[in-house]
Amino acid sequence: MIITMAKSAGFCFGVKRAIRLALEAAADGNVSSLGPLIHNQREVERLSKLGICPAADMNEIKEDTVIIRSHGVPPEVKEELKRRDLKIIDATCPFVKKAQHIAAESRKEADMVVIVGDKDHPEVIGLVGFAGEKGFVINDLEDAMNHRYHGTVAILSQTTYSLAGFESVVEYIKSEAERVIVYHTICKATAERQKEAAAIAKEVDVVLVVGGKNSANTGKLAQIAANNGAKTAVIESVSDIDFNIFNGAEKIGITAGASTPDWIIGEVLEKMKEDSVVMDEKVLNEMEAAEAVESEVTEEAAAAEAEAEEIVEAATEPEAEEVIAPAEEAVEEAPAEEAPAEEAPAEEVSAEEAPAEEVSAEEAPTEEAPAEEESMAGAYAAFSKDVAIVRRGERLTGTIIKVSDSELMVDIGAKSEGIIPRSELNPAEAEQITELFHEGDSVEVIVMRRENEDGHPVLSKRRVDADLAWEKLAKAMEDGDILEGKVIDVVKGGLLVNVGLKGFVPASLVETSYVGNLEKYKDQDIKFKVLECDKNHNKLILSRKAYLEAEKAAKAAKVWEEIEKDQVRHGTVQRLTTFGAFIDLDGVDGLLHVSQMAWYRVNHPSEILNIGDEIDVYILNVDKENQKISLGLKQLIPDPWSLVPEKYPLNAIVEAKVVRTATFGAFVQLEPGVEGLVHISQLAWGRVAKTEDAVKPGDIVNVKVLGFDLDSKKISLSIKETLERPEPEKSEEPVEEKKPKKEEELHSYAPKEDDQITIADMIKED
Ligand code: F3S
Repeated sequence: MIITMAKSAGFCFGVKRAIRLALEAAADGNVSSLGPLIHNQREVERLSKLGICPAADMNEIKEDTVIIRSHGVPPEVKEELKRRDLKIIDATCPFVKKAQHIAAESRKEADMVVIVGDKDHPEVIGLVGFAGEKGFVINDLEDAMNHRYHGTVAILSQTTYSLAGFESVVEYIKSEAERVIVYHTICKATAERQKEAAAIAKEVDVVLVVGGKNSANTGKLAQIAANNGAKTAVIESVSDIDFNIFNGAEKIGITAGASTPDWIIGEVLEKMKEDSVVMDEKVLNEMEAAEAVESEVTEEAAAAEAEAEEIVEAATEPEAEEVIAPAEEAVEEAPAEEAPAEEAPAEEVSAEEAPAEEVSAEEAPTEEAPAEEESMAGAYAAFSKDVAIVRRGERLTGTIIKVSDSELMVDIGAKSEGIIPRSELNPAEAEQITELFHEGDSVEVIVMRRENEDGHPVLSKRRVDADLAWEKLAKAMEDGDILEGKVIDVVKGGLLVNVGLKGFVPASLVETSYVGNLEKYKDQDIKFKVLECDKNHNKLILSRKAYLEAEKAAKAAKVWEEIEKDQVRHGTVQRLTTFGAFIDLDGVDGLLHVSQMAWYRVNHPSEILNIGDEIDVYILNVDKENQKISLGLKQLIPDPWSLVPEKYPLNAIVEAKVVRTATFGAFVQLEPGVEGLVHISQLAWGRVAKTEDAVKPGDIVNVKVLGFDLDSKKISLSIKETLERPEPEKSEEPVEEKKPKKEEELHSYAPKEDDQITIADMIKED
């Protein structure tokens, strides 16, 4: 099978120039491009890794510098960018600029300004902006027939429009309008590419058009190839190749749109080789030659740009552009400075024609392999080698061959060794360059410049490290992984953390609750989750709070798995309410109701607990379905009434505190939760008219235990029995001991709510 590769396949100079300008700008930090820089998604992704971030519209521009792509923009868009005080890198292709200028000038003199092209294409939108209210877009001949033309009609086209299509529209308008001025604004590169595609299509069975499916010029190439009789397929990458299309085909043609990078074309060639499509050596050598030409892209673009600038200047001269024609056949062709080349013959070379001298010594065929195949492989290897080395932005692995204080010299398989300047290492590595790097070490790098003044490719390890860090962080974000890093600074609003890159933890995401002073985190290693990872906008937001919450959730799951009724667990007082306290049991909160805190009445949880206290609690109940846990505290200490017989036996004399007085006696507290009654008759040996005459609340008195009833939790006590009985006065009648009127009065000393003493009182007592 013979393959014919179009010489003009791949990036046009306008696209190369735009990419060059963007990469130069991105060397100083990320930049935005207003719209994707080119119509090729994979290349756009590659460029975004190099800091060229596409913004769908002006409102999405996040960087201070904006690139206007080769398609150009309407004048009002550029004005708005200026108004927003953005640094503008105008990468509008000079050929497009020329068309814009023509559109603007035509607006002054013509009655109608026809732009032949796709009305939705950004270049055409820009041209309409320059043509103003007189501009309108004609899509094709059919569309042209649906319009009426009056006065002077200026006609120009999208730079990538098909020449034949443009000519057909022009012919039609000539037949309809009074006066026509035609401007040939199809760019030379496009015209050549299209002519070449047509020529190849006539000679081959199948044409592969490599390019973005939303690229206008790729679409035009496919259309042209199909119109010229070839079976045609548009592929964006190798994975799109359907090899069935080659069934029965002997000759294959390959071309590519202006937005197709050479590395994608290279991948297609390689894949075809793998799948036994015989490559022609001469074609490959031509590809090598094309690569060599590409290495001079800067000069070529500069020359072409200068040429185009001249064209623009010529276009600004009204005499040269605007030709007034006679009324009847008033048709004039504006000077066609960029007239397409006469013929751009496609290259078609059979294997037999490949001259032997084109094969280098290393590429010489071996005895085992057929000469044709070997020489082809050698040529292809040379092609691949060049591709790998000279491409800016390419990521490669090399071997360190020399280490010095100022740089590393790296063998990347190129003719010249690459240089990693100290500045392209991470700062920490740059400090210890001779300690950390050694000859023979493998190192991954990105090509920053194809060559420096000494002819060495300039490489960066720092950017690879950054790329790897972004990749790692993006994956960690996707997987919800927990990472660790050191806090390197405390700034307004949060923490800066070193994670290979500088990540930001907003103050609100440092803890699960508000933290006022963040200084304590400085130089600490902290764990976090990645919340936002946007390399294009250099945005890396971390959350320690998310890590803490995740950790708490994991602990909680374990607790729910293990917790059972009647267990005793350790917890921390989290929150106090009027009805109880919430206790954190390692990630799960349980409620300790106020009634379960002590054997005596507790008015408020704060009487016995403080937030942050660590306590043991008894699990009263677990409702896993509704995730509720009831806790008790008093269950962990004995009921004081159960100890009464032991601690307060009959006739024992103990100290007590008067807590309340009543008409029939005084209530005294033996200990929290245990109170008894001293009947009025037991207050003193003499007659006591009123309880308050003998005691008052708060008095500490000695009492003697007269009796107790554990079931009804009652104790009868006597103060009198602890006192010495006075001698009776002889002159007086013996004092009759007053008995309680009713039995129940003796025992009606159940504590009332307001009889309770506070915990503070108890502590004081202790
Ligand atoms: Fe390319 Fe400029 Fe032509 S961008 S296709 S050289 S108009």
